Amino acid sequence: MIHRGDGLASVKGDQHRKLKRLLSPLFTASNVSKLEAIFYHVAYRLRETVAEEVVGFSSRDIFGMLSSTALELIVKGGISYPLDCLAAGDAKFSDFQRALNTVLPTAGRLWMVIPYFESWRKLRPVWLRRFLSRLVLYLPWKAAREFKQCCDLMDQTCRDMYGYQQNLSLKKLGRISGRDLCTHLLEAKESIDCKHVLTNDDIVANMSSIILAGHETTTSAMSRLLHILAARPELQERVREEIVSARTNNDGKDLNYRQLDNLPLLDAVCRETLRLFPPVIFVGRETAQDTIVPLKFPIHDMAIGSQELRILKGTRVYVGIGAINRSEELWGTSANQFIPERWFNREDRTQHAFKMPGVYSDSLTFLGGARSCLGMKFALFEIKLLTSVLLGRFALGLSDKEICWRLDTTVLPYVEGETHKGPSLPLIVKDLQVGDLGEDHKRESFTK
Ligand code: HEM
Repeated sequence: MIHRGDGLASVKGDQHRKLKRLLSPLFTASNVSKLEAIFYHVAYRLRETVAEEVVGFSSRDIFGMLSSTALELIVKGGISYPLDCLAAGDAKFSDFQRALNTVLPTAGRLWMVIPYFESWRKLRPVWLRRFLSRLVLYLPWKAAREFKQCCDLMDQTCRDMYGYQQNLSLKKLGRISGRDLCTHLLEAKESIDCKHVLTNDDIVANMSSIILAGHETTTSAMSRLLHILAARPELQERVREEIVSARTNNDGKDLNYRQLDNLPLLDAVCRETLRLFPPVIFVGRETAQDTIVPLKFPIHDMAIGSQELRILKGTRVYVGIGAINRSEELWGTSANQFIPERWFNREDRTQHAFKMPGVYSDSLTFLGGARSCLGMKFALFEIKLLTSVLLGRFALGLSDKEICWRLDTTVLPYVEGETHKGPSLPLIVKDLQVGDLGEDHKRESFTK
């Protein structure tokens, strides 16, 4: 509904299957691992930006920096567009970032008209649809106007990136990353199979929806991981030791995809963070036909039944990712506790001998089945690499501001009592390369 063309997240059935088959090769471990150089380049820029801001030791809101980094990584790594989000002053991209951050919460305020959006998007003739959509800007309805402005801005920015890539293709110039989304879709569009299937609008819609899907989710996950480590100095130190010793064993060189993936404690901390605090805590669906769902854990309710659940066609169903990931039936009595060590013994990680149908870690964090997350490998590489670069240089601690986590589209950090200011994550950051700081009171607040 947000895009003019058909993006992966909005298409269904056969169209979805074909599009997913087309896009999936870009997000395999082998392709994502080739983004290493770009990822490190961006991560080091983030590290330098943080170092400049903290000047040794101070409390800093790192949410904005993480959000810009996630956007830069998805645009540079996924689309191969030379975007510089961390550099201040690029108004065009700060507007784009704002549109990405506000489009879904604004859509949430339009819940009563959202069911009609999909049919409006397909309304013909196109001139009539465009005329009607422009009228939205004159409606006395702020949320509708804001939503339209966000959609237009995202569409225009992605069109500009697409135009840039088309130019590169024509001139046969080199790209930042090897195989990127835009080139891949451009080539597919010209191939016989997709000639009449993929329009320019569809390519722009896919670029936009992948940026949208990969930006806030990863920012949420990174923020949570760093907040957890800041609250647990002893665990943070163990993760840092693991990273530093792996780098030392690698002759001081950057760790590649496989080496990062093979760090057991970092991996366990990521799994446990993403299990306990999934950025997306539920997804909504509508049943396409009458169906019967067999229940692993019977519901003890006479009205509903016990072993199975009958659901009629057209029923709204919610998959409770957050609830399943914390189910005591699955994870035992420690389900609600943060215990990374549970991932060391892989054989015995859940209480029962059955597997969750999720694609990651016996959880539903990245969902499962046909609609599972396309960018899971991209996200995990990003999270591990950024964590390794940041912890290699900084020690993190809690500031005196209390953080509360609120559900927008994903779960984001806010300062208690200052939620009107938008998401933020102030942490105490100490630059480990700067010598004695000499201020004991700061050290005390750091270790509390
Ligand atoms: C920690 C980070 C991430 C989490 C927790 C996450 C989670 C999810 C979930 C739960 C879904 C299913 C949504 C639904 O069906 O309603 C999904 C879908 C999707 N994700 Fe992610 N995601 C993350 C990062 C990314 C990244 C980095 C990208 C892109 C590079 C991405 C691209 C997508 C796409 C395109 C879909 C739609 C897939 C389809 O409909 O077949 N995600 N993600």
